Amino acid sequence: MVKVGINGYGTIGKRIADAVKLQDDMELIGATKTRPSYEARMAVEHGIPLYAAKDAEVFEAAGIKMEGTLDDLLAQVDIVVDCTPGGVGAQYRDVYKGAGVKAIFQGGEDHVTAGISFNAMANYRDAYGADLVRVVSCNTTGLIRTLYPLTQAFGVDNVFASLIRRSVDPPASKGSGVNFIEPSLKLPTHHGPDVKTVLSDISIQTMAVKVPTTLMHVHCINVKLSRPATKDEVLEVWSRTPRVRFVRGGDGVRSSAQIMDMARDLGTRRGDMMDIVVWEDGVSVIDRNLYYYQAIHQESDVVPEIVDCIRSMCKLQDGAASSMAKTNATLGLKG
Ligand SMILES: NC(=O)c1ccc[n+]([C@@H]2O[C@H](COP(=O)([O-])OP(=O)(O)OC[C@H]3O[C@@H](n4cnc5c(N)ncnc54)[C@H](OP(=O)(O)O)[C@@H]3O)[C@@H](O)[C@H]2O)c1
Repeated sequence: MVKVGINGYGTIGKRIADAVKLQDDMELIGATKTRPSYEARMAVEHGIPLYAAKDAEVFEAAGIKMEGTLDDLLAQVDIVVDCTPGGVGAQYRDVYKGAGVKAIFQGGEDHVTAGISFNAMANYRDAYGADLVRVVSCNTTGLIRTLYPLTQAFGVDNVFASLIRRSVDPPASKGSGVNFIEPSLKLPTHHGPDVKTVLSDISIQTMAVKVPTTLMHVHCINVKLSRPATKDEVLEVWSRTPRVRFVRGGDGVRSSAQIMDMARDLGTRRGDMMDIVVWEDGVSVIDRNLYYYQAIHQESDVVPEIVDCIRSMCKLQDGAASSMAKTNATLGLKG
């Protein structure tokens, strides 16, 4: 049993805690909080041992029982999943190294923080036995999930993607205006180079705009394939790809709103959609140009990747296929 700790119990951290609890080869030792928020109280209600990342006294004053400090947590675990806000994780790198624990960072950190960036399907073995690994961001995970199988099946000469980004996550009450469309002016955006931290040979450029929604990101993608393929051949490849799911506009799935409703109907925890969702009837191939739309549930798509990353770093499964099958079965994902 690999002992897992989580530093930072927010959007990603709470989902990793729940996912780890479902794995029979991992044990969740605890998670940290910096303040006695409602999330801290919910963690206690769910039986998650809490540790103070900073000042423990504020929790005592609020009547929340803590098991110790971050140092106490690190002393008990084999691996820590850093889920602190973007840029904060890098500040903990030396703390984790000093404690002699393996560490996973999130996409909010730069590639250099860990030196290895991860996606289970594309490069599981790169993280095998490693001490520091970064799991790429929600958008990068989404791009790799659908692009990697295309590189294997047809070859990819070039990718151009426009990212329509949610402004903030649903719990945020700050930072989400109601009347704006905000282009990222530094072009191409960082998302293309981020894909290359995993798929080093791919040629890709990206643009992005932020819009006033919280539910999902939507990507509009053009891929120049290396060899001709039909739409049906492309769909057949994705139908065999784990963690990629089709929806149809013809069935009434017109937008991210219906996808999130579907996720709630599926009965997933928190109504999450960890699969990348491709509109089947929005796929088109003209000459060697493939066009498609996909939706990304930013709060949850990285969760199965992080579970697989723990397995790779801790050498729990030799290869991606067996680890992903185990993760998919426990999280109820498309295998
Ligand atoms: N949300 C997404 O869309 C998404 C998707 C993929 C990847 N990511 C990446 O995942 C990472 C976490 O993002 P998130 O969305 O989960 O952020 P978040 O919801 O803001 O959660 C981060 C949590 O870290 C805690 N924290 C803050 N400062 C800390 C510190 N110094 N030490 C320990 N804990 C601290 C905060 O909890 P308290 O202060 O209340 O304890 C906060 O709830 C980022 O790198 C982000 O880029 C985010």
